[in-house]
Amino acid sequence: MTSTGVILVLNGPNLNLLGSREPAIYGTSTLADVEALCARAAADAGFTVRCVQSNHEGVLLDEIHAAQGTADGIVINAGAFSHTSIALHDALASVSLATVEVHISNVHAREEFRHHSYLSAVADTVIVGAGINGYRLAIEQLVSVLPH
Ligand code: DQA
Repeated sequence: MTSTGVILVLNGPNLNLLGSREPAIYGTSTLADVEALCARAAADAGFTVRCVQSNHEGVLLDEIHAAQGTADGIVINAGAFSHTSIALHDALASVSLATVEVHISNVHAREEFRHHSYLSAVADTVIVGAGINGYRLAIEQLVSVLPH
């Protein structure tokens, strides 16, 4: 498989509000900070990132489909869709791309409805509770399994 040198970083619903949204849980860094952190971590390994945030499940699905052949791997924080979306599970299962699922908060220490993610069964790696540093860890992990 030819390397594209691109990592897709997908953020789902409400993550556009990072920085102001429940800062005691999600911290004060913004989505722009997260995307800059991902770009830096990827650049350190010779990759670029394509960063997309959407509050719409269908947009996230389209991005996953479009990643086949245009990206080498996916970092995804699907927000609340993680706990509800069989469609995102199926999309990730349908593309053969290394995938790391990220949650900023430790979802297992929170409400019961956050304990199950439909994405985890189709992700290669799951990182929870590391704050926004989880995105850097996710990029480093992806890069370690990608040919480059
Ligand atoms: C989240 C955890 C989800 O339960 C929640 O719905 C989010 C953010 C996280 O990054 O910790 O929107 O994915």
